[in-house]
Amino acid sequence: MPSHPLEPFRIKTVEPINRIDRLARQQALESAGYNLFGLRSDDIFIDLLTDSGTGAMSDRQWGAMMQGDESYAGARSYFELKESVETIFGFKHLIPTHQGRAAEHILSTLLIKPGFSIPSNTHFDTTEANIRARGGKPVNLVIDDAADPSLPHPFKGNMDIDKLEAFIAETGRENVPFGMITITNNATGGQPVSLENIRQTADTYKKYEIPFIIDACRYAENAYFIKLREPGYAGKTPLEIAQEIFSLADGATMSAKKDALVNIGGFLVLNDDDLAQRAKNELILREGFPTYGGLAGRDLSAIAVGLWEGLDEGYLAYRLGQTAFLTESIEAHGIPVVLPPGGHAVYIDAGNLLAHIPRNEFPGQALAVELYLEGGIRGVELGSVAFAYTDPQTGEEHFPLMELVRLAIPRRMYTETHLDFVAEALGRIAERRDEIHGYRFTYAPELLRHFTAQFEPVE
Ligand code: F0G
Repeated sequence: MPSHPLEPFRIKTVEPINRIDRLARQQALESAGYNLFGLRSDDIFIDLLTDSGTGAMSDRQWGAMMQGDESYAGARSYFELKESVETIFGFKHLIPTHQGRAAEHILSTLLIKPGFSIPSNTHFDTTEANIRARGGKPVNLVIDDAADPSLPHPFKGNMDIDKLEAFIAETGRENVPFGMITITNNATGGQPVSLENIRQTADTYKKYEIPFIIDACRYAENAYFIKLREPGYAGKTPLEIAQEIFSLADGATMSAKKDALVNIGGFLVLNDDDLAQRAKNELILREGFPTYGGLAGRDLSAIAVGLWEGLDEGYLAYRLGQTAFLTESIEAHGIPVVLPPGGHAVYIDAGNLLAHIPRNEFPGQALAVELYLEGGIRGVELGSVAFAYTDPQTGEEHFPLMELVRLAIPRRMYTETHLDFVAEALGRIAERRDEIHGYRFTYAPELLRHFTAQFEPVE
């Protein structure tokens, strides 16, 4: 019996949600080309597409928004954000952006030349695409244990340090303009990275004088996993752990839509003066003046408050508790999931559940479509639709480690009853799994294809 996540808040505002019937869901799917990104949200009952920008803000955040300063330059809201960021992240320069990928874009534009490689434990898809869009090569060097969904490992998001060392030695430092690590490691199951591993990664990059940039979207969840699981950290606060993490790096990209608990926003933080200056010039060109960077003043104020709420221990216990609760409830139906539970989402091993569907017929997509049909629930495929690609040089097709369906839990949004409903719908699907068929593309763009691809069923 999974333990119940205790909400450290009460509900002040509610938003009605609607459940359309099965026939209407079938029609909605057909007109969306079987791509769940193409659905209207009014046709969705429980939306677990992403935890990005979908959470509920607090009364304090809404209060801060009302007091946002919309001055074009030097707004008070910018300085509120700067203070929060300086305390938690500690880098010298703050460059606000409209979301995480804009920070990735600026960094990639400034530092990547064709042929360069950027290592990480596992890059997220927008990071991969930004690197490829500059002619660079994203390289994923996560530990081998991450490829086994059922293997328990407290820090399954870790970088394989031996692989990293060998990769840099082989590629040559001059071809690696910066190195990254993603915390938590979204693409392999929202799995955390240990502080020891972050330190070893930092040491490796430092040895070769490679700037170290952290993809920090879910840094607070990662910090809380470190507190719970890493020897020596039980007595530290998530803030202290976060400060220790960031003290090891030269900069970070941040999507505030995750652990800063807002609906839009992000930033790039850097220590290097010259790089930060160039980033600000790039920002002015694409996003906006350096004290607002593509956001309204009120957004900056909401992030300034949300960063603190995201580090609150009661909140983090509830947050990781919800994910564990849903993971265990799904597992109780005999459905294979990535273990141990990650931070922000449950990852179902669709490749295993629907083993009769070949990888090029997308078992993850098949399961995601089925879940919408069954319960009006929207998840997202994170398997071959999102990550397989054909090498432009060799023409060889590369598949990702796993065929997953992610059910991301928006922050402070759904109740335990909603989560029970999701697990029960999956249980019914598992009972009739043999009847489920695969899909093929009728359209697929070159980059980030899962957002706009169209499909048809394979009969
Ligand atoms: N890095 C990671 C690890 C992410 O998960 C995301 C976004 C980004 C960068 C980009 O941030 O969306 O603000 O531009 N992940 C969302 C998701 C979209 O659903 O996991 P963004």
